[in-house]
Amino acid sequence: MTRVFVFTNHKGGVGKSTSATNIAFGITGMLRRANASNCRVLLIDTDSQGHASLVTTGRKDYGTDDSLYTVLMADRQNAPQTLMNCIVPSTWDENLHVLPASPMLEGAERELMGVAGAPYRLADPLSKIANQYAAVIIDTRPSFSLMTEMGLLAGSDAIVPVEPRYLETVGLTSVIQKINDIRDGWRHPNLRVSGLIVTKMDNRIRGHSHLLAELKSHPVLGKLLLGVIPANEAVSYAHRNHQSLFSYDPRASASKAYAQVVASLVRYLSKGIE
Ligand SMILES: Nc1ncnc2c1ncn2[C@@H]1O[C@H](COP(=O)(O)OP(=O)(O)OP(=O)(O)O)[C@@H](O)[C@H]1O
Ligand SMILES: [Mg+2]
Repeated sequence: MTRVFVFTNHKGGVGKSTSATNIAFGITGMLRRANASNCRVLLIDTDSQGHASLVTTGRKDYGTDDSLYTVLMADRQNAPQTLMNCIVPSTWDENLHVLPASPMLEGAERELMGVAGAPYRLADPLSKIANQYAAVIIDTRPSFSLMTEMGLLAGSDAIVPVEPRYLETVGLTSVIQKINDIRDGWRHPNLRVSGLIVTKMDNRIRGHSHLLAELKSHPVLGKLLLGVIPANEAVSYAHRNHQSLFSYDPRASASKAYAQVVASLVRYLSKGIE
């Protein structure tokens, strides 16, 4: 079964899109170097801001007939084919494909509110086509809105990027609780919180080191730590050039840290859950 990683946190600007896009690119590259028979990765952008779509395809002006919005509005029977039709190649790698967001997703939440089966309008068609991909990565908006619920219901593994300043156990526990509420409330037992990624880490800031040490020693949260990404200006330069961090500067500290996260996710893909 293809794993579907959902990058989520209701806090804004914590590195969800940066992590989702670069990890998607990293997984496809690592699978290719390992001569995997299928190294295709699908990136799904559920955020109407379209940042992930913009950096990976050069556009964010997708609309009624070429985006995730189209899939959500399609008839149930046509939805898988519509999804396939709306997938575009990325400019980053021929094996990285993108189902782009649209500014219209903002209204889609209102349009779908109260429609029977609405929360499954991504999960259902995705389940029909996911096996064409080695992994699927979903980027979400900074809220636990209907759109984010749709992403989580399509997912198998939630990954929570978090900045050190939000590392307080209470805040993190409430994010995890919210994901578990969605899993239980919508009866989607296959979803689990599989990892935390600490982003924008600055070792010079004492508070950061202190909070990271606390996280590492926490009996539950410590085990979920997937990686620590340093604050690194290469990230914003790569964004500005619409390039992956690895292509922009493979030697940048953030590239090296993301490469480690990618390696552990690829191991996870090949071995399954411990
Ligand atoms: N490791 C890093 N070092 C420095 N800057 C970073 C790092 N990671 C992300 N950023 C910057 O932080 C900002 C927010 O990152 P990003 O867009 O990935 O967050 P997000 O959680 O997806 O935001 P939103 O909630 O708005 O969707 C961007 O300007 C990005 O360039
Ligand atoms: Mg984002």
